[in-house]
Amino acid sequence: MDVQILPMQAADVPQVAELEKACFSDPWPESVLSHELENELSLWLVAKNGDTVLGYIGSQSVLDEADMMNIAVRKDAQRQGIAKKLILALCARLADKGVQSLTLEVRDSNEAAIRLYEGFGFLQVGKRPNYYFHPKEDARILRKDGLA
Ligand SMILES: CC(C)(COP(=O)(O)OP(=O)(O)OC[C@H]1O[C@@H](n2cnc3c(N)ncnc32)[C@H](O)[C@@H]1OP(=O)(O)O)[C@@H](O)C(=O)NCCC(=O)NCCS
Repeated sequence: MDVQILPMQAADVPQVAELEKACFSDPWPESVLSHELENELSLWLVAKNGDTVLGYIGSQSVLDEADMMNIAVRKDAQRQGIAKKLILALCARLADKGVQSLTLEVRDSNEAAIRLYEGFGFLQVGKRPNYYFHPKEDARILRKDGLA
C-alpha cells in the first residue's frame, strides 16, 4: 500500500475526528482539531493512501520541548508500520525546528502503544495517577531526548 506522511489539512479533519472517536473514550472533537491547524505551536501529520486517512499524530511544542497529543492508526491498517512512519516523520520535523525532547502520556494498560514507544527509545520519567477517565486509569509519562 502506498502511504504518504503529510501535514494535516482542513480536508483531513473529519476523518481524523472519526478515527479519534473510534479509538479513544474521550475524543478530540472536530472543532478542536480544526483549531490545531491555526496553532503555530502545533504540528499534526496524517498518513494517507490517496484521500483516505489511515492514521495521524499530533504534537504541540514550546521552545525545545514537544508533547505528543495523540496517535492512532485505523484498525484495518494496523501492524503495517504506519505508526512507526508517523513517529519518525514527526521526530524529523520537530528536530528540524530545534526541538530536543518529545514527551507523551500513555495508559498503563496500552501494551501496543508502550511497545511502540519503547522501540523508539522512549523512557518512563513519571506517572500521573488517575489521569484518564472512561475507564479511570493511571498514565505513564514517557520521554525521548536527543531528537535533534
Ligand atoms: C498504537 C498504534 C498507534 C500502533 O499503530 P500501528 O501502525 O499498528 O503500529 P506499527 O505497525 O507501526 O507497529 C510498530 C511497533 O509497535 C508495536 N506494536 C504495535 N501494535 C502492537 C500490538 N497490537 N501488540 C504489541 N505490539 C504492538 C510493535 O513493537 C510494532 O513493531 P512490529 O510490528 O515490528 O512488532 C495503534 O495500535 C492504535 O491506533 N491504537 C489505538 C490508539 C492508541 O492507543 N493510541 C496510543 C495512545 S497513547
